[in-house]
Amino acid sequence: MPNQLTISSINVVFSADDNTTAAKDRPVTPNELETLGVTNDFLAASGFEGNINQTALLPEQDAVVIAVGLGNEEMTAAAGRSSAAALWHASKHLDSLTSLLPLAIASELGAEVALQAVVEGMLLASYSYDELKGTRENNPNLQQVTLVVPDGVDSTTVLQKAEAVADGIALSRDLVNRPGGSLSAIQLADEAMAVADKRDLEIEVWDRERLVDEQCGGIIGVNAGSLEEPRLIRLTWRPKGESRGTLHFVGKGITFDTGGLNLKTFEGMKEMKIDMGGAAAVIGAMGAIAAYAPDLTVIGTCCCTDNQPGPTATKPGDVLNIRNGKTVEVLNTDAEGRLVLADGLSLAAEDQPDLIVDLATLTGACLVALGQRYAGLMGNNEDAISKVQIAANKANERMWHLPLPSEYRKQLDSEIADLQNIGSGRFGGTLVAGLFLQEFVDETPWVHLDIAGPVTTDETEGEFPKGATGFGVRTLIEIVNNW
Ligand code: BES
Ligand code: MN
Ligand code: ZN
Repeated sequence: MPNQLTISSINVVFSADDNTTAAKDRPVTPNELETLGVTNDFLAASGFEGNINQTALLPEQDAVVIAVGLGNEEMTAAAGRSSAAALWHASKHLDSLTSLLPLAIASELGAEVALQAVVEGMLLASYSYDELKGTRENNPNLQQVTLVVPDGVDSTTVLQKAEAVADGIALSRDLVNRPGGSLSAIQLADEAMAVADKRDLEIEVWDRERLVDEQCGGIIGVNAGSLEEPRLIRLTWRPKGESRGTLHFVGKGITFDTGGLNLKTFEGMKEMKIDMGGAAAVIGAMGAIAAYAPDLTVIGTCCCTDNQPGPTATKPGDVLNIRNGKTVEVLNTDAEGRLVLADGLSLAAEDQPDLIVDLATLTGACLVALGQRYAGLMGNNEDAISKVQIAANKANERMWHLPLPSEYRKQLDSEIADLQNIGSGRFGGTLVAGLFLQEFVDETPWVHLDIAGPVTTDETEGEFPKGATGFGVRTLIEIVNNW
């Protein structure tokens, strides 16, 4: 695992047994602050106001003492994670750390939630993508963390859950950060097999021949210009006892998007290794979900290939036969995500699950509309939409509900096929893409998440280092846990 900090370097002690500093289950008093060197002069000189994510080294101590601001707002698990991330950044060059942070936020969050938030925040903040670095310099030193928690916390279970979530997000980040040339559809399937092995998930992988047999003409059509084989990956969590229902997640897994014959420009192409971010979120989430062992059937389907302009590539104007029997005229080979998802959504809808959620880095237009922080959320069912919104709020992943206007549907009418893959107008590209996908889910409750923006971040913030964020993993976990 890429985490500089691993779960094995985290040790949990109970406040009653702890004999470090002021380990008491209550706020520090003004007098104690004085003895810790936190005088008015110090506060004025350091600018430390106790704001959330603010840290300060306290003066004149034997050991280094770090103050972590928690702000005035209500404490949440997300705020706990980002405080823990701030603490990791402040302490990463120390050899070891003993922290009262879980104890300090336990009264508001509950001890288990507090501990899980702090562990996840530290593991995720310490993530860095260095698997391709030949030399490793300036690595953080912090390898030993002791967390003080209220008495009686079942820390083993909490640490297992925290590790499963952090591992899922770290894997999703690794897959998105990995260059296209180092992550083919076959290699992506290998990664999914490793997850299935580790977490006891069922897995099925379809190669090109099988995809042809199964009439997945969207995936085959996008793959046509490539020398690499496509893969459809299906991970399944099946509960030991009776299942309360079925949720099906579908991910866009374009390992590199050149645009195909409608080749992208240099600017448009250079970041297109991220175009399997939907599949990465599904694979990462499935591993974590298995660790929670829900009494639901949870399926994750990933539609994987690169999009290349080779001599046998699908040409503008070609017509593809999608799995559900609909035909699509490909007017722009760069609108490939919706073609592979058309097969994936058709397959998901065949089993009539209780909910389908797809995740895809689908449109540049979504970035234009919502920027880098917000995913676009669309769907065909109010109840399904609100369930996903509630889960996203809990996960602290920002999503904005966009419409699927039936008035725009005619933009997808083709002269020669059932549909064309781009709208005839210039505007509303995210919505038109959503309307296209809707053609493949029948009446099944379905939510589409366009994650083109939040799949990566340009700057390190809280537990999110620059680069891939792992966006979507948490929302999928929350959907399952709240169902
Ligand atoms: N993968 C891109 C969308 C994308 C763009 C994701 C920028 C992340 C950042 C997608 O396959 C694509 O090329 N979409 C086209 C659609 C158009 C041809 C209708 C786009 O957005 O330009
Ligand atoms: Mn494209
Ligand atoms: Zn794409």
